[in-house]
Amino acid sequence: MPAFWAWFVAAGTIAFVIWCVYLISWAGKQGPQNKEDEDLVGHVWDGDLEEWNNPAPKWWLYLYFITIAWAVGYMIVYPGIGAFDGLFGWSQEGQYEQEMQAAEARYEPIYEAFAAMEFEDLVKDPDAVALGGSLFASYCTTCHGSDARGATGYPNLTDADWQWGSSEKDIITTITNGRNAVMTPWAQILGSDEAVDNMVNYVQSLSGTVEAGDGAESARTQFTTFCAACHLPTGTGNPVLGAPNLTDSTWLYGSSAEAIRTTIEQGRQGQMPAHGEFLGENRTRILAAYVYSLSQ
Ligand code: HEC
Ligand code: HEC
Repeated sequence: MPAFWAWFVAAGTIAFVIWCVYLISWAGKQGPQNKEDEDLVGHVWDGDLEEWNNPAPKWWLYLYFITIAWAVGYMIVYPGIGAFDGLFGWSQEGQYEQEMQAAEARYEPIYEAFAAMEFEDLVKDPDAVALGGSLFASYCTTCHGSDARGATGYPNLTDADWQWGSSEKDIITTITNGRNAVMTPWAQILGSDEAVDNMVNYVQSLSGTVEAGDGAESARTQFTTFCAACHLPTGTGNPVLGAPNLTDSTWLYGSSAEAIRTTIEQGRQGQMPAHGEFLGENRTRILAAYVYSLSQ
């Protein structure tokens, strides 16, 4: 908070407390002075039952003073007056940090023990997998789904098909640094609607979902020229570039002619955000083991 606003808030808070004290003392002194007719409030019940303008009862006013004293005490102990931190320097953030450190101290030995294990053993260790599963539930399900089966554009992590590689190192790199897939649009370069149609047909024929049509030969030539650099001449893909295998039945964006046409015409840029800094090495490795265990 800039110094001016800190002082502004502090002055406002203190002035308000003083004003409350004044208001309540003033209200405590109000009341009928002489018990003459003019001191009646003017309400009449049952013909002749009238009411003095009596002050609020003392015990009631004392309750107000007690709450004011409480507020003053509170603002001395806790942050509340402008930028003043309170006597003990308590803050929400500080408390959060403290709780995080306590959790860290509790879990760190568990993570250390797992860190010493081989990856293959981690994948089979029920405790490690359970811990990985709970981490996954906290950090990954928003995109990959609670069953890790993904959705259009978000890969299914339970199958044996890996866009970016399935080794310990590959999966850890995926989680740590994230992945940015780059599939550029191809409509213009392929040249015509017909060429795009032929390419869609050719791609579908690679996985055997449709028969290769008349244009498949010219599409194959274009595929070799334009697509093979990433998807390989056979179409089996390249995990280094995240270029998917086009010959299998796993599709990130769908297997329909329409979905494939959209991919070819407009390109795709799937992004897996980096989590390394935030998760740390040990938790990342346990998550990698969990994700790998899903595909087994
Ligand atoms: C620069 C490398 C590169 C080139 C060249 C390239 N692609 Fe891709 N392609 C990718 C990447 C990376 C993805 C994954 C996109 C993502 O994950 O968002 C992809 C995805 C696809 C998909 C979607 C697969 C799925 O599972 O849904 C199809 C279909 C496809 N490419 C076809 C082609 C065709 C046809 C060509 C040539 C005209 C081509 N690609 C050229 C890198 C490339
Ligand atoms: C904001 C959404 C988002 C979150 C959160 C997210 N992911 Fe991803 N993840 C993606 C997308 C999108 C891809 C595919 C990127 C591409 O198109 O190549 C992906 C890809 C992956 C892959 C690569 C799969 C393969 O076939 O190679 C793994 C492994 C993975 N994520 C694990 C995780 C884990 C573990 C977490 C939790 C720490 C996580 N993801 C959190 C969106 C997300």
